[in-house]
Amino acid sequence: MPEALLAARAVTVRFGGLVAVDGVDLEARHGELVGLIGPNGAGKTTLFHALSGVLAPDAGRLLVAGEDLTGSAPHVFAAHGVARTFQMPRVFRDMSAEDNVRFALQFAGRTRRHAHDAFDDARTILGFLGLGAASAVAAGALTPARQRLLEIGMALGARPRVLLLDEIAAGLTPAELETCAQLIRRVRDELGVAVIWIEHAVRVLMSHVERVAVLHQGRKIADGDPRAVAKDAAVIEAYLGEEGVGSEGGRERRVA
Ligand SMILES: Nc1ncnc2c1ncn2[C@@H]1O[C@H](COP(=O)(O)OP(=O)(O)O)[C@@H](O)[C@H]1O
Ligand SMILES: [Mg+2]
Repeated sequence: MPEALLAARAVTVRFGGLVAVDGVDLEARHGELVGLIGPNGAGKTTLFHALSGVLAPDAGRLLVAGEDLTGSAPHVFAAHGVARTFQMPRVFRDMSAEDNVRFALQFAGRTRRHAHDAFDDARTILGFLGLGAASAVAAGALTPARQRLLEIGMALGARPRVLLLDEIAAGLTPAELETCAQLIRRVRDELGVAVIWIEHAVRVLMSHVERVAVLHQGRKIADGDPRAVAKDAAVIEAYLGEEGVGSEGGRERRVA
């Protein structure tokens, strides 16, 4: 089996007496598109904090391309090719779309040399996102859906090998959600970037990812082929409900 690009090994994160992430193993291999789902409070965002160095785990290891980065700061994870978005949108509203991406590029520095080196200017990235014509528009004046695409562009400015997306499509219309999903696919297909994607829109997510992991109360309760996971009794009980997903009429799960 090829070495994982990004791996959490038996990671535990506690907040006081609460075990938010409980001995979780999760990995993304080179160029893999992985979904991460689970009810609100399951520990998904906290696991992303651990995977990107925002929070040091209380137990377990974090490996990037086999290198142990446990306890390292976020910039160290970034320098090793881990980029992420945050659940709350983080664009600079008064800056143009192009300046937002340029800022991300400068912040990342010019030393990064990963799969998509040609991606070193803001216009190329905006073109990839389909935002070329909006480059001079203030980010705050873009539609919410386009702001979310811009956030992906800012994360790409770090020229990552693996991208962690935390509810990037929350609140989008079904059409916007599909556009966002297609972009995520292209990030993987055309740039070779591995993606771990958290989204409550489970049916759409399941239709695009190769593998999906499910968290429930801090524990990983399933990890595998989306069709198999959608039929898993523990997953249905914890999260999907009796309607299941992938069938017609399957309901999207969204944040309340
Ligand atoms: N900074 C924090 N301090 C204390 N508890 C937290 C903090 N962040 C998250 N939690 C708790 O940890 C659990 C997991 O939260 P989170 O990782 O945000 O879940 P998810 O992203 O799956 O909705 C929840 O019970 C949440 O209330
Ligand atoms: Mg979350």
